[in-house]
Amino acid sequence: MVFRLKERLGKRFEEEVQFFKGWQKDRKGVGAVIPTSVHTARRMASVVNPGSGLPVLELGAGTGVITKAILARGIEPRQLVSVEYSSSFYGGLTQRFPGVDFRLGDAFQLDEVLGDRRGEQFDCVISAVPMLNFPMEKRVALLEDLLVRVPVGRPVIQITYGPLSPVTRMPDRYVVSHYDFVVRNIPPAQLWTYRRAI
Ligand SMILES: C[S@@+](CC[C@H](N)C(=O)[O-])C[C@H]1O[C@@H](n2cnc3c(N)ncnc32)[C@H](O)[C@@H]1O
Repeated sequence: MVFRLKERLGKRFEEEVQFFKGWQKDRKGVGAVIPTSVHTARRMASVVNPGSGLPVLELGAGTGVITKAILARGIEPRQLVSVEYSSSFYGGLTQRFPGVDFRLGDAFQLDEVLGDRRGEQFDCVISAVPMLNFPMEKRVALLEDLLVRVPVGRPVIQITYGPLSPVTRMPDRYVVSHYDFVVRNIPPAQLWTYRRAI
């Protein structure tokens, strides 16, 4: 039991070191110094509907804490499409989560990154892309691109650290809702959901 605990803590420490190195290489792209907490990851993954039969789209997987939480919701690895920009994170993810459809590329160029899967509908989108580091026009364009890939009523969930929605409100185009504030995260995290306006 003590050995298992040491092994788990060791793995988490390795993940944190890998994440920190990623941040040192590209501070703006990675956007956080340590990975999202398991508590936040589980809250984000709670929007997944495993009964929908649709794949799930994840953006900005990093070292995979949210990936793990999505799979724990009962999603088959091949039903998870996960986009990551950093090649060093991508390498670690493909080793750690065999069977997940990881795509190395830019979430802002989704058609290109998704390739053969570009026309698919997803149950929901779970995004950890550091939105605040991109101009607002790009954030809105990304969100609207994501919303056409999920059925009406299904969410795009986004993590952020500021007090406001990282994507400006456009009530005629999409509905913005505050989902949760997770204190057990460094720094405390805000979760926002977006749905297509009907
Ligand atoms: C704040 S980290 C979150 C990592 C991980 N999901 C977590 O919660 O610990 C942001 C992640 O988004 C990735 N990223 C940044 N810009 C991206 C883009 N344009 N397309 C895809 N991934 C991107 C970064 O490489 C990094 O892994």
